[in-house]
Amino acid sequence: MQLKEITESVCDLCLKVGDFILKQQDVVREQDVEVKSLNSLVSYVDKKAEEQLIKGLSKIVPAAGFIAEEGTETKQGEIYNWVVDPLDGTTNFLHGIPVYAISVALFKNGKPIVGVVYELGKKELFSASLNGGAFLNGEAIHVSENQVLANSLLATGFPYYNFDRVDAFLDLLKTLFEKTRGVRRLGSAATDLAYVACGRFDAFFEYGLNAWDVAAGALLVQEAGGKVSDYTGGENYFFGGEIMAGSKGLYAEVLILLNSKMNT
Ligand code: IPD
Ligand code: CA
Ligand code: CA
Repeated sequence: MQLKEITESVCDLCLKVGDFILKQQDVVREQDVEVKSLNSLVSYVDKKAEEQLIKGLSKIVPAAGFIAEEGTETKQGEIYNWVVDPLDGTTNFLHGIPVYAISVALFKNGKPIVGVVYELGKKELFSASLNGGAFLNGEAIHVSENQVLANSLLATGFPYYNFDRVDAFLDLLKTLFEKTRGVRRLGSAATDLAYVACGRFDAFFEYGLNAWDVAAGALLVQEAGGKVSDYTGGENYFFGGEIMAGSKGLYAEVLILLNSKMNT
């Protein structure tokens, strides 16, 4: 199958699984919530959605393995692996905040070649394939053209389980509050990255994330003309636990601030 066909099949699957998740919004109850670890919540919705995704993805690229958040399938592929977050923004979902997404990427030899983020609050389907561009509901998207930090809107995720770097993080935020239009915390890293890809945010950064949170979104940003790295400008952002993504115009300036505050 060509990358374009694979991407279309993943989009169709995400739309179907998205319908399931949306239907559960009014059904899921407090007693369905399990605590995996400090402030890390899960319910049957995440698990069932993941099972549905794995069943569908297995048909699209049968040779591929899985890196999936809820671990409902752990088979590793030699060349191809699906990197799946069935519900990114579970806390939002469980609290009735309408910002949460399905995030699916296909990795070939450790790098994404397909990425799909379906944000369910606005029913926005973001997709990208390597060297094929990035799209929102089928229309090509691009990162912001803004080059002025004072006119920028940034996004991040607040630490909620690992507070080791919180002082440096708060110091960084103070600087960014003074230098930008603001910093948002949507509660879904996949959505944050998709919003960088379509130019709503100028940059996004967060530490403590896993590959499934950022795999699809990173490809979206790159295919939309933006840049992605870890906090030192390096490439260890899938498994290194920190990511920074930004538009061509502001990536470098934000990275310098990030690097100076978080890596000293
Ligand atoms: C979370 C969201 C959130 C980020 C967390 C992630 P989950 O994913 O992306 O924005 O701050 O670190 O774990 O747990 O809802 O899939
Ligand atoms: Ca996630
Ligand atoms: Ca999740």
